[in-house]
Amino acid sequence: MLATLAVAHYRSLHELVVPLAQLNVVTGANGSGKSSLYRALRLLAETAQEGVVPALVREGGLDSTLWAGPEAISDRMRRGEVPIEDGPRRKPVSLKLGFAGDDFGYAIDLGLPTPSQSLFARDPEIKREAIWSGPFLRQGNLLVDRRGPLVRVREGEGWRVAGEHLGAYETLFAQLADPHNAPEVLQLRETIRGWRFYDHFRADADAPARLPQLGTRTPVLSHDGHDLAAAWATIREIGDGAALDAAVADAFPGARVAVVVEGGRLSLEFRQHGLLRPLSAAELSDGTLRYLLWIAALLTPRPPPLMVLNEPETSLHPDLLPALARLIGLASRRTQVWVVSHASRLIAALEEIPDCNPIGLVKQDSQTRIDGQGMLNAPVWHWPER
Ligand SMILES: Nc1ncnc2c1ncn2[C@@H]1O[C@H](COP(=O)(O)OP(=O)(O)OP(=O)(O)O)[C@@H](O)[C@H]1O
Ligand SMILES: [Mg+2]
Repeated sequence: MLATLAVAHYRSLHELVVPLAQLNVVTGANGSGKSSLYRALRLLAETAQEGVVPALVREGGLDSTLWAGPEAISDRMRRGEVPIEDGPRRKPVSLKLGFAGDDFGYAIDLGLPTPSQSLFARDPEIKREAIWSGPFLRQGNLLVDRRGPLVRVREGEGWRVAGEHLGAYETLFAQLADPHNAPEVLQLRETIRGWRFYDHFRADADAPARLPQLGTRTPVLSHDGHDLAAAWATIREIGDGAALDAAVADAFPGARVAVVVEGGRLSLEFRQHGLLRPLSAAELSDGTLRYLLWIAALLTPRPPPLMVLNEPETSLHPDLLPALARLIGLASRRTQVWVVSHASRLIAALEEIPDCNPIGLVKQDSQTRIDGQGMLNAPVWHWPER
């Protein structure tokens, strides 16, 4: 389980350390930093897939993603007595992302490129990475240490050089994840690769989830939901079929959903009281289809280490939100869940679930902060030094 997420100098997240629980609900006003936090988590996930530099470049590179405020803000700037200005820089420009879980922690520090004639001379560079054991980095618990192209792995009392030629665009997961050379790197990479993100399922008239599809056993619903019928049938076969029926009945009393095969293609049939024939996925309302997609995603027979749901309330009627909260609560017994939401009814229902961790974001001096977090109750966190 992830216990802490830390971000520095990414958009409005100037310095943020977030304590996490089994079920986490991120809320806040428009512009408070919810999407930025979600994107920071996605960027961290990209480190294990070799996509973190391309993803940052797609977002506009460091020019756009780096914290646009001053390195430090004085009390006089805060009170408006002097203009907000950047003094002489004391530390190098750096965008940092990290997390710590039950066993290991990881942090990555990206910075400005070294000047060159390359066509990619503006790409951010990975300057530093660290893997440690325990809840935060401290003297003596560093396991894997990357500085520029050089990677060292702790071995007994000393260090062994495990790589000397890492590209500035490559994370240590690219070259080091093998079971003999660096087992902790492999373990961490596989955990991060398991994180699952669901972000706005399509439910428009041409949405892939509305069409009959060729299907194979599908324990994990895809991001666009095209394999909804196959995922549904898989839950029925190897997962919790009773929970599937209960989730449908909870949201749509009296309704039943079945999967049928026609010409080798799978499709859903939605039976409801008062109709002579079942409705196909093509005939369902946007909200009903989205809800079925959430059921299939959340009742997966292969729960991931972390499931992230971005604004799952989209196009759902407020009356459906308590049922969605119950479904999310059920999923959170098997997997760590992170929900970003705007919907007050969903938030209120989630907050009633025992162990729910509400993360309320607020903006102060243009920086995102956690509501109610002070020096004393923020989790301990130390970034690796450059
Ligand atoms: N480079 C940057 N430096 C500082 N602040 C930034 C930077 N880029 C964007 N911001 C600001 O960060 C804030 C957080 O934006 P974000 O999209 O995360 O908000 P949100 O909570 O998702 O809001 P909404 O509910 O409207 O979607 C915005 O006010 C935006 O103007
Ligand atoms: Mg947003």
